[in-house]
Amino acid sequence: MRHTLLLSALLIWAATSAGQNKNAPVNYDESKVPTFEVPDVLTCADGSRVKTRKQWEHKRRPELMKMFGEQEYGLTPGQTGIKVKHELVATNNNALGGLATQKQVRFVFTGTNGQTHEALLLLYLPNNTAKRVPVIIGYNFHGNQTTTLQDDVISSPSKDLMQSAGSEKWVRGEQQRRWSYEAALRRGYAVATMCYHDICPDSPGLLAKGVLPLFPGYNEGQRTPDEWGTIGVWAWGYSRIADYLQKKEPRIDGKRMVVMGHSRLGKTALWAGVQDERFQVVISNNSGCGGAALSKRVFGENIARITASFPHWFCPAFNAYSENEAALPFDQHELLALIAPRYVYVASAEDDQWADPKGEYLSACYAGAAYQLYEASSPSEAQLQEVKLHHNVGYHIRPGGHDVTEYDWQCFLDFCDKAFSR
Ligand code: GCU
Repeated sequence: MRHTLLLSALLIWAATSAGQNKNAPVNYDESKVPTFEVPDVLTCADGSRVKTRKQWEHKRRPELMKMFGEQEYGLTPGQTGIKVKHELVATNNNALGGLATQKQVRFVFTGTNGQTHEALLLLYLPNNTAKRVPVIIGYNFHGNQTTTLQDDVISSPSKDLMQSAGSEKWVRGEQQRRWSYEAALRRGYAVATMCYHDICPDSPGLLAKGVLPLFPGYNEGQRTPDEWGTIGVWAWGYSRIADYLQKKEPRIDGKRMVVMGHSRLGKTALWAGVQDERFQVVISNNSGCGGAALSKRVFGENIARITASFPHWFCPAFNAYSENEAALPFDQHELLALIAPRYVYVASAEDDQWADPKGEYLSACYAGAAYQLYEASSPSEAQLQEVKLHHNVGYHIRPGGHDVTEYDWQCFLDFCDKAFSR
């Protein structure tokens, strides 16, 4: 018994303390990409090969989900007992120059321990139709008030907690260029956004200021190897937004929900889309390492760097692959594959080499194996020179850097139109 305990303690220590080298070298030279074998999406851990949808859905898919849960993002708690109340705080029927009805909804989460936590959703519904509409759900980085110049948009509650003195980042309209609300609304889409810090602050020292203490068994600072990181918590939050829109907002068509995110929130959108099959379209913009990019290419940001800078994003067991990507039994193309046959879109930017655009593209190609089981299409490696591809797995690359642009939104909307046969 004592030996077993000692062994478990050692394993936990090894899994959590390995890696995280913030000085690990970063490779930007294609000729130095290691030779690696891409794990085969359709080969099970016992060596058998998936030939049917049934085998995929009942054997291989759960097996992969377990690997991503136990070894990368951490496991999402099942029964949490957390209750959510929604309070409509404000409505403006004539927002954005009359294009939209703007609603602001407070989410009040209550844990079984009685602790509560609040978050604020901003929702735009198009005024040009009375029909039920599809919705694009995306977190913002610095508060709802940064996404528009509409002066009646209330600052997100996490602003006071997260804003550093003198920082311009939280100023009204500061991120407006990243939110093409008008374009989406004109095309008949609703858009819902929330500040990701409202769900869980993106800072290791502030994790207890979000929803986490409401979860049964939460133990601050004591993490087990497969305990979820904040990407998992944010993904859980995306599902809570989907709950509200699907069940409480009559203008939303709950069968046409899109989850999107940029960068760390692109990683989050993918993990949310994998776990919550209500998301019919999943969009990851410049998500890079731990998102759409293949880890085994070790190009741009790598596991040592990401786990050193953001130890709270992943589960502690992921550290074991720091400077050891070759040992990974899975890779990120399999994360995309888990979305099959639903629609997934990967967007890259030419100058965003930190996110490894080529690795993001190859991931989209290699995910295709699962899509083929459903006779759904995906890009092939030979199309690497193409800049925009609309298969069930979509992709584009544009000039410029790490950002979300008007052009990106146009591509996302075109892709959603295709997915929803509009
Ligand atoms: C850093 C981080 C990336 C992440 C990005 C972001 O650059 O290294 O992994 O995607 O921040 O979220 O903006």
